[in-house]
Amino acid sequence: MKSPSLPHLVALMTAFGSAFLLIGCGDHSAEKPLIVGTEAQFAPFASKNAKGQIVGFDIDLINAIGEVIDHDVKIRDMAFTGIIPSLQSGQIDAAIAGLSVTEERKKSVVFSDPYFEAGLSILVPASNTTIQSAADLKGKTVAVQQGATGAKVASDLKEEGRLGSVKYFPSATLMMMELGKGGVDAVIHDTSNSNTYMKLDPGKVKALPEPLASEYYAIAFNPKSTELQAAVNQALKELSSDGTIERLKDKYFHDEEHDPGDLFSEYLSHMVAVLPNLLHGAFYTIGTAGVSEIMAIGLGLALALGRLFGNGPLRFVVIAYVDVIRGTPLLVQILFIYFGLPGLINGITGHPANINPFVAGIIAFSLNGAAYLSEIFRAGINSVDKGQWEAARALGFSRPGTFFTVILPQAFRQSLPPMGNDFITLVKDTSLLSVIAVSEITMEGQNYIARTYAAFPTYIAIAFTYLILTFSLSRFFVWLEKRFKIP
Ligand code: ARG
Repeated sequence: MKSPSLPHLVALMTAFGSAFLLIGCGDHSAEKPLIVGTEAQFAPFASKNAKGQIVGFDIDLINAIGEVIDHDVKIRDMAFTGIIPSLQSGQIDAAIAGLSVTEERKKSVVFSDPYFEAGLSILVPASNTTIQSAADLKGKTVAVQQGATGAKVASDLKEEGRLGSVKYFPSATLMMMELGKGGVDAVIHDTSNSNTYMKLDPGKVKALPEPLASEYYAIAFNPKSTELQAAVNQALKELSSDGTIERLKDKYFHDEEHDPGDLFSEYLSHMVAVLPNLLHGAFYTIGTAGVSEIMAIGLGLALALGRLFGNGPLRFVVIAYVDVIRGTPLLVQILFIYFGLPGLINGITGHPANINPFVAGIIAFSLNGAAYLSEIFRAGINSVDKGQWEAARALGFSRPGTFFTVILPQAFRQSLPPMGNDFITLVKDTSLLSVIAVSEITMEGQNYIARTYAAFPTYIAIAFTYLILTFSLSRFFVWLEKRFKIP
């Protein structure tokens, strides 16, 4: 069989890539549903079930509200710290995320009437006897969720010298795991979500009997959305008087004990159970990495040409670009494109600037990858013997003709091994997208852990999934190198 030529491969990958982008952007073309942000690691209010659907008290409630106000509801999962900024920039219309009403938040968003009476608890390891109330936290280390009211309470206590130090975690799941493994002395967190963890992993941690604070959960909106706020308040009244809200409480706050069974078979069954989620995540991981790599190759080649053959100012621009991209963390670039840019556009135009997290990821990876690839291509092009230019010119080739038919193919072959390295790094770096809640492999795994508390088997399964991907890729690059070897 004849092996496919490079142009064929590129065409194939581009086709796959564009199909992916279309899927990624598809949900924007639908007629305007209500986009509601949540963080799906906060059971029983919002978490992902075994099928990867977001379920919970908050989700049922907002869907019921949608029915009353006759609006389609679209749930968007995001990092907890992203919720308020996303409301402000108009990326979402409302947020329901076990969000407590606070004076501080009222400066940036408006709230509906409260729909749930909540509170904060102090959690300690079950064996702990020294911490019996908030007064015993002096000198202790406490874990909290970044941006949550528990974090505010902890930092206030610390300021007053009534607490040793505070560790901030992006999700409640990670914070609970830290407590479980003894990395902190206590956790300050919402009572209801904490209860879910205690039920999943009984006998490990306990909540102190005295609640730390009482709070109310409400739905948040952009300050300009007063009409929506009023409609939702009206719907909440109806759902309360017709008993819907009570029924939801019965549904989500009943007791159900979990029986652990033997450790090995429990781990094994988790690794099997998480697999469908990881495969779903792999689809996004491969899609993001594939599309980004193709765009990065194009842009990287252009940058390399600019650096090698451009005039002074162009060379300067390219060098500056590579320095800036290489000199700043990829995570910061992702956050900048997802949160920073839409915020700026919103600030200037006054219109919400929405960017799909998946598209934001592709942009970040393409821009980032291009900088690294441009250096790889530059080295590849420089490695081709200068004599070849003269030889080709002597045979009557034009300068561009020489470059594209003689120099570039050889440079490409030289660049293949470092390109393989770069691509494999890219595949692994897509895990950073979990911070903006793209459902890639790591995110899917974290969601599973949030539901089951099964950290060890899930991380093994996550690592294994990446390993299969990167191993296949490195085989593919070996094949490519052979394919393009000088006979
Ligand atoms: N009620 C707390 C707050 O408003 C914590 C909410 C955490 N929610 C979540 N989806 N993780 O800050």
